[in-house]
Amino acid sequence: DWIMRDHIEEAVQKIREQVGGEEVILGLSGGVDSSVAAALIHRAIGDQLTCVFVDHGLLRLNEGDMVMDMFAGKLHAKVVRVDASDLFLGELAGVSEPEQKRKIIGRLFVDVFKAEAEKLKASGQGHKGATFLAQGTIYPDVIESGGAKSKKAVTIKSHHNVGGLPEQLGLKLLEPLRDLFKDEVRELGVALGLPREMVYRHPFPGPGLGVRILGEVKKEYADLLRRADAIFIEELRNFTDEATGKTWYDLTSQAFTVFLPVKSVGVMGDGRTYDYVVALRAVQTSDFMTADWAELPYALLKKVSSRIINEVRGINRVTYDVSSKPPATIEWE
Ligand code: XMP
Repeated sequence: DWIMRDHIEEAVQKIREQVGGEEVILGLSGGVDSSVAAALIHRAIGDQLTCVFVDHGLLRLNEGDMVMDMFAGKLHAKVVRVDASDLFLGELAGVSEPEQKRKIIGRLFVDVFKAEAEKLKASGQGHKGATFLAQGTIYPDVIESGGAKSKKAVTIKSHHNVGGLPEQLGLKLLEPLRDLFKDEVRELGVALGLPREMVYRHPFPGPGLGVRILGEVKKEYADLLRRADAIFIEELRNFTDEATGKTWYDLTSQAFTVFLPVKSVGVMGDGRTYDYVVALRAVQTSDFMTADWAELPYALLKKVSSRIINEVRGINRVTYDVSSKPPATIEWE
């Protein structure tokens, strides 16, 4: 696609002019926006970019390895992977209130990223270290922070907010996706060589599995949830709807598994089990402000349920969430 090639060339030139010979750091989350920003900036300035990937221990199955494989492996970008899972899980111990969990995760995220950024500044790869902070801000984010959001009277859920970070770090901002809508960001990502599955992923909340484990977060719960969720996502990708020719992953806007810290009785072979319960959640929406629960085919639900119960020891019951938004929210916390 020639138009896209021109766009990339233009964006690359702009980044080179803005950055000159200086260095840039970027917080890589594995999400679409930061991934596309990283790929674009890397295309423009190569090793002048250092990505920092903070693993808070609440990511999906193999997420960390996938991000490393993609950016460090295939793109040959400089990526620092910070395993902060002990820190996050430690601070979350005993905390079960959703907003409190979000605040702890958000605060630690900023702390860890800042510490890494300071380290990189100090180490000064050759000279003075990074002077730019790159962010995957896209056009709808720009509009949202320009006041539309403040009209909302009640905050239902506090979202991750890293505003103020560049000032705190004394860094200049680099936001090469600021003028783009989500669709354009995705097209750009594909044109830059990122895999389609990565670029067309469902959104994943900043606090990750921290808000998909109801109540107190424990490593044991996160490990069970990761495996159950991976099965759900795999089968959504496996099942194709005949009418549209699309997979159920592409037919849903967001789909995931929620861990319920309650036990129910089951039977397996000759024995009784007393294990945890998960809920499957899949919604269709155009703006995430309202959403309908997805009418997934029974065959798909059946396959997912039997695979989770057979493959994930510790979970013996699978339920499907048939609540729309409103009054339910998409996430359970
Ligand atoms: P709700 O649950 O409010 O979610 O219907 C609407 C959309 O927002 C996402 N979400 C979050 N994203 N940090 C995020 O980055 C958060 O704390 C958070 N909470 C909800 C949710 O996944 C859905 O896409």
